[in-house]
Order: sequence, then structure tokens, then C-alpha cells
Amino acid sequence: MRKLALYAFAGACVAMLAAVPARAQNADPQLLIVSCSGCHGTGGHSAGAIPSIYGRNAASIAETLREFRDDKRPATIMNRLAKSYSDTEIDTLAREIAAKWAN
Ligand code: HEC
Repeated sequence: MRKLALYAFAGACVAMLAAVPARAQNADPQLLIVSCSGCHGTGGHSAGAIPSIYGRNAASIAETLREFRDDKRPATIMNRLAKSYSDTEIDTLAREIAAKWAN
């Protein structure tokens, strides 16, 4: 049941994500992280089963995203999501989250 609810929630998040025009190479960093807060919570503070991602340094976030992208870390969603970002965007995302979602 719990897993089903997570999938339903994740589906809703993907729908929200599709509404955010964050695919351009030089996307506004603030716009990029809006899509993450849809699932990971405002400021990276998740209220549900999805892990919180605040308080992490940029290097660790970027490394995690690359592991998801390269299928080196088990995932249900982040593997697919991470593949849609360029290397530049991953670094931008990681910097922005580390700076804006420090605590
Ligand atoms: C559709 C929902 C969804 C969206 C949108 C989303 N995530 Fe995730 N994220 C997850 C889930 C679920 C996990 C747990 C791994 C998995 O099952 O894919 C996760 C895991 C992570 C982790 C690892 C956390 C840990 O400590 O293990 C990081 C880092 C992360 N996401 C970053 C991001 C960033 C950055 C964005 C925005 C580009 C983002 N996520 C957008 C659902 C989402």
C-alpha cells in the first residue's frame, strides 16, 4: 500500500516536473531546483518517504546524481530523471541546492 502511494505521489511529481521548462542548457538555476522540490519538499525537506536532500555539499549531490544517471546507484525514479540533465546542469543543480538548501 505504502509503495503504491509512493508511486502515485511520484507520478504526480513527474507530471509537475513536465510543467516546468527546465530543459534548456542554460536554464535558470532557480528554475532547475523547483522541479526537485516537487518531490523532495520545500528547501529539500521531505515530509514523506522520499529522502530529504538539504544540508549536503555540492560535490556529494553532483556525485549522487551522476551515480543515478550512470545506473551505479539503485533507484526507482532518480536514475531516469538524472539522465535528462547535462553535466553542466548537474553541477549547476548541485551548487544551487548546496547554497540555497543548506539547512
Ligand atoms: C518524481 C519525484 C522526484 C523528483 C522530481 C526528484 N527526485 Fe530525487 N529522489 C526521488 C526518489 C524516489 C529518491 C530515492 C531514490 C529512487 O528511488 O530513485 C530520490 C533520491 C535523490 C537523492 C539521493 C538522496 C539520498 O540521500 O539517498 C538525491 C541527491 C536527489 N534525489 C536529488 C534530486 C534532485 C537534485 C532533483 C531535481 C533535479 C530531484 N532529486 C528530483 C524522487 C524525486
